[in-house]
Amino acid sequence: MKMKLPKAGTVEVNPSILSADFARLADELAVIEKAGVKMVHLDVMDGHFVPNITIGPPVVEKLRQHSNLFFDCHLMITDPRKYGPIFVEAGANNVTFHIEVEKNPADLIKKLHDMGASASLCVNPETPVSSIEKYARLCDMILVMTVHPGFGGQKFMHDAAKKIKAVRELVGPEIRVEVDGGVDVDTTPIVVGYGADTLVAGNAIFSKKDRIAAIEAIREAAK
Ligand code: DX5
Ligand code: ZN
Repeated sequence: MKMKLPKAGTVEVNPSILSADFARLADELAVIEKAGVKMVHLDVMDGHFVPNITIGPPVVEKLRQHSNLFFDCHLMITDPRKYGPIFVEAGANNVTFHIEVEKNPADLIKKLHDMGASASLCVNPETPVSSIEKYARLCDMILVMTVHPGFGGQKFMHDAAKKIKAVRELVGPEIRVEVDGGVDVDTTPIVVGYGADTLVAGNAIFSKKDRIAAIEAIREAAK
């Protein structure tokens, strides 16, 4: 299913299923779709780049049959060049990969675009914005990590969030700036203030019984 990343200029809450009930993923997607979100953040971990393992292409492929949401796949894996296109084939609409493992990202960005997907680069908390300077404008979105990737429910790192400002200055208003890690009603005003427009939130949504109210609370905090 070919879908476009929502055009920059709106703030989008992007629920991360990492904290969802993995035994009921299709139901979880249906609930957040009811809340009116346009996208869902699928965290892919390989046990190498990060010390955790989550889902692979077969799960994305099955979920695709149950959802019309834009699938934002965050690859926390050491070989995005090999697996990025496989995730697009499985149904990913955006593939985000880490600059820390891909020193020449232009080829992969082009490959993803040629396949009809959008492409995003991600920086870990300790990775400088200068590392993506040459490639950022080739991307559809830049992801700034505000926790060390691997687990949901970690504490927001304010110093890492400050890089959002530099990223926004680098890419201008047309490219989305996504933030991932510790985003909740308290940290949302901070990251939106720095220029983020795509708010990944796992624990802040899926630890709550009422996911829809939790999404609405983040939207409200972003105003
Ligand atoms: C962490 C993942 C995140 C995670 C965020 O490595 O990339 O997407 O789900 O979870 P919270 O919102 O709980 O910090
Ligand atoms: Zn993520």
